[in-house]
Amino acid sequence: CGIVGYVGSQEAYPILIKGLKRLEYRGYDSAGVAIVDEDDINLIKCKGKVADLENKANGQNLKGTLGIGHTRWATHGPPNDVNSHPHYSQSKNLAIIHNGIIENYDALKKELVNQGYRFESETDTEVLINFIEMVREAEDLKLEDAVRVALNQVVGAYAIAIVERGNTDKIVLAKKGSPLVVGIGDDEFFIASDATPFVEYTKNAVYLEDEEMAVIERGKKLEIKSITDNKSIDPYIHELQMHLEEIEKGGYDHFMLKEIFEQPRSIRDTLRGRLLPDEGIISMSGVKEYGAKFENASRILFVACGTSWHAGLVAEYMFEEFARIPVEVEYASEFRYRNPIITEDDVVIAISQSGETADTLAAIELAKKKGATIFGICNVVGSSIARASHAGAYTHAGPEIGVASTKAFTAQVAVLALIALEIGRRKGALTESRFRSLISELDQIPKKVEQMLESEDMTVSIAEMYKDVSNFLYLGRGYNFPVALEGALKLKEISYIHAEGYPAAEMKHGPIALIDENMPVVVIATKNGQYEKVVSNIQEIKARNGKIIAVVNEGDETIREMADHVIEIPDTDEAFTPLITTIPLQLLSYHIAVMRGCNVDQPRNLAKSVTVE
Ligand code: G6P
Repeated sequence: CGIVGYVGSQEAYPILIKGLKRLEYRGYDSAGVAIVDEDDINLIKCKGKVADLENKANGQNLKGTLGIGHTRWATHGPPNDVNSHPHYSQSKNLAIIHNGIIENYDALKKELVNQGYRFESETDTEVLINFIEMVREAEDLKLEDAVRVALNQVVGAYAIAIVERGNTDKIVLAKKGSPLVVGIGDDEFFIASDATPFVEYTKNAVYLEDEEMAVIERGKKLEIKSITDNKSIDPYIHELQMHLEEIEKGGYDHFMLKEIFEQPRSIRDTLRGRLLPDEGIISMSGVKEYGAKFENASRILFVACGTSWHAGLVAEYMFEEFARIPVEVEYASEFRYRNPIITEDDVVIAISQSGETADTLAAIELAKKKGATIFGICNVVGSSIARASHAGAYTHAGPEIGVASTKAFTAQVAVLALIALEIGRRKGALTESRFRSLISELDQIPKKVEQMLESEDMTVSIAEMYKDVSNFLYLGRGYNFPVALEGALKLKEISYIHAEGYPAAEMKHGPIALIDENMPVVVIATKNGQYEKVVSNIQEIKARNGKIIAVVNEGDETIREMADHVIEIPDTDEAFTPLITTIPLQLLSYHIAVMRGCNVDQPRNLAKSVTVE
């Protein structure tokens, strides 16, 4: 979910709406705003996108210079008008926006019902605001004190902002588990889940830490306190590096397409200053600092979700090949509940674009408790996972807005390649000459990705032919097995076509039963150790009349004769092929989704950053 807020001298509503649009990638099941004027808290909300909210708000009184807004990804209760945020308390004296989950809401609700409270929605958020109201009335407390007292009895994760009737100056905030950042302008404050809604107004941002609350009040300084013991905390002001153009579409129809086309640049940014082929070195401060831990690691465990998990799978091949360290790749959500065996000799690498994914964060907290060293690979600077890690490396792909991850994935793979190569060199698992030749090759990747983008026309014509099918199969082996998984994920996420990724050789153990003349099969068949085997797999598909879309090396005539469509990639080391083979699969999914009339940047039911379990 996304949170925004404003207090200052400007009209709040337009700032909130613009901010919500920037945050829509975090969830877009419903949206709402609450503006506080002298008389009332004027609240308006509805199911649907921010644009639907604007329609509904037309002609309503939403004047005022203090307000909060929310865009939701439904957890408790279906997305409808009633369950949308903000939520009033029963007396309508308070209103709240909330991102996260209150785990003990049921117990709190029972208590409130006993006290005569009635609820309009099914949300945990309405329980929370009424609980705060009950505490405030029972003890006649100031709003911030009531929030603090109440939160000390709450179990769960939250980023909240609360306003009160009759107070056009103050917003009370609190954070635990979900991100919240305050932008400090000249006599004005902004609040948001990340800094994108306010970069054009101020570059000064304060990221709240877990178990911190803040009071922002017109004409006063930002005040931060600890929720647990009410101690004052000095705000640490970050200077934002983000630029407005990075979070706008820049002439492309969709953020996803813009981000696909940004990849030559984003990969170059990932490698910049780290990969120094002329000097024959890789320079990464986090790896240097924890070099001994990596070299002596008994195991490397990758924890991640979604596309980031696929990057971890690619890294498994790299770390085993280059660094000769045993690797396990885990879904963070499974790992955290398994009482996993972790020792102090393990290095856990957490991969996360947003740096906020709840399961990944919980997995690293668990591993940390058990003594492992945590290395974070995040895209969002200053994110929770970055801060919770002992060391790490940012991917520097720039803000990714499209919900389907593209440039963040290739940046993750690129940064993981750097780490694997550097550890391999340090351990002596790679000879100096092999290391040098690999880093020169890695340095060529942005150029080859650029060349690969020229396959767009081809993907458009393939998309035209297959846009109406109901199933797709993606096959790959070795380094390109995770690419097959990622290709299938991309397609299903944005086009709603069912797609499965499989290791090519496993096809005969199941998916082959699905193949007939209606089944397109994307086969990544680059020249690697198992090339011949993949050629046999293609024969097997062909024998059953499946349609073959093959991604092959330049000049591969063998497969050209068998396949229905061929996309050629420039030659590179096998280990780096995922950075290139991924590109046409991203483009194919994009064009199919556009042709099917799907909302590519905001596919149904998904969110960019999943801060709930
Ligand atoms: C969501 C997003 C995916 C992403 C996954 C993990 O499901 O829609 O694109 O891969 O979360 O997110 P993270 O930010 O941890 O990489």
